[in-house]
Amino acid sequence: MSTFKAPKGTYDLLPPDSEEFLAVREALSAPLRRAGYGYVETPGFEDVELFARGVGESTDIVTKEMYTLTTKGGSRLALRPEGTASVLRAALEANLHRAGNLPVKLWYSGSYYRYERPQKGRYRHFSQIGAEAIGAEDPALDAELIVLAVDAHRALGLREVRLLLNSLGDRTCRPVYRERLQEFLRGLDLDEETRRRAEINPLRVLDDKRPAVRAQLADAPLLRDHLCEPCRGYHARVRDLLDAAGVAYEDDPALVRGLDYYTRTTFEFVHDGLGAQAAIGGGGRYDGLSEMIGGPALPSVGWALGVDRTVLALRAEEVAPAVPAATDVYAVPLGEQASAALFGLVTELRRSGVAADLAYGGKGLKNAMKSAGRSGARWAVIAGERDLAEGVVQLKDLTTGKQEAMDPREVGAEVLKRLETAVPMSSTVPER
Ligand code: HAM
Repeated sequence: MSTFKAPKGTYDLLPPDSEEFLAVREALSAPLRRAGYGYVETPGFEDVELFARGVGESTDIVTKEMYTLTTKGGSRLALRPEGTASVLRAALEANLHRAGNLPVKLWYSGSYYRYERPQKGRYRHFSQIGAEAIGAEDPALDAELIVLAVDAHRALGLREVRLLLNSLGDRTCRPVYRERLQEFLRGLDLDEETRRRAEINPLRVLDDKRPAVRAQLADAPLLRDHLCEPCRGYHARVRDLLDAAGVAYEDDPALVRGLDYYTRTTFEFVHDGLGAQAAIGGGGRYDGLSEMIGGPALPSVGWALGVDRTVLALRAEEVAPAVPAATDVYAVPLGEQASAALFGLVTELRRSGVAADLAYGGKGLKNAMKSAGRSGARWAVIAGERDLAEGVVQLKDLTTGKQEAMDPREVGAEVLKRLETAVPMSSTVPER
């Protein structure tokens, strides 16, 4: 143990769990790569104002949860609490939207930071896979993104994900609704803080989970009933496209999301096996964000899926993502001469695509075989002086215990042949 521990609300990713995270990142991003989304990476910190303006001055994320700092040069920066504002900033800065090929489709993978009260599924450092389609207003784009997330969940083998869908209207209909809602909220018996929230951000009150507040919200006016004609038509088309794609969703008129940039389509993926932190992903359309951060009008839509919570959802369903074997072959040299020979063999195996490892540190046979077992390898290649003198190594199948002498030059081809015909050991993802 060192004197230090990972900071509160964070955790280290270590093998073998880290392999699961890599597999989840791969599965969540694979559908995007097949749908024309290019990879983007932005800095881990940005000008604090980008998030204040983009995510919203009155949101919890900006008022309570941002890690901010002032540099020695006097710049005010924030560790990124989310990816959308940064990705749009990067696209605008590089003029990607001027290349004449809208929408600009981008995907990303990275760490995000929110100073939240830590609990299961809620961390101060977490990981997202995100996607943004910038510069097009088309219900098919909203539907595409939703379908890609659904496909990613399916490919992972998740079955208990529900998709909640709503429309938050636009700059024509939302202000009218906002006033109606405010009027309604002023007539309720609310505590001081909720009253204040009702004045600054009334839609957020709809998201209040406390029973005493919920009970009073039963008759609250719904945005659904106040959508303008274009928003109503747009939402109907998104729904039709999802129906056509065979994607099930639940209408949730109370879905407001925790970021202020949303317009029209909003959605969340929830998993009931996770308790309070049930959202494993969310997103929506943000037609005004570009202008909010000083860019031209660029209607856009996107989502982010939480990697940590997706892993928890998989565990809740007892599904293991297919993780490539860390080690196929474990080499056990007995003596110095054998060590040199097997070092060469392991190098060759790795170059031909076989995952191979070697017993280091001059271990004896018993100890080295224990390490071979712990490595999860299917085969051990054992060689002592006598084997080398005979020009062979021993290939031992660690599942059956069967051992055979073999020319070391043939081991690579033989293992590859057996790997091709074998059922992957670590894959328990059910076929769909
Ligand atoms: P978000 O809903 O704030 O949206 O985050 C997306 C997902 O990140 C959540 O559904 C959750 O799975 C995960 N997440 C958020 N906070 C935490 C946390 N403290 N610990 C663990 N996981 C967390 C956004 O971030 C938007 N940028 C999504 C978006 C993209 N909208 C349009 N484009």
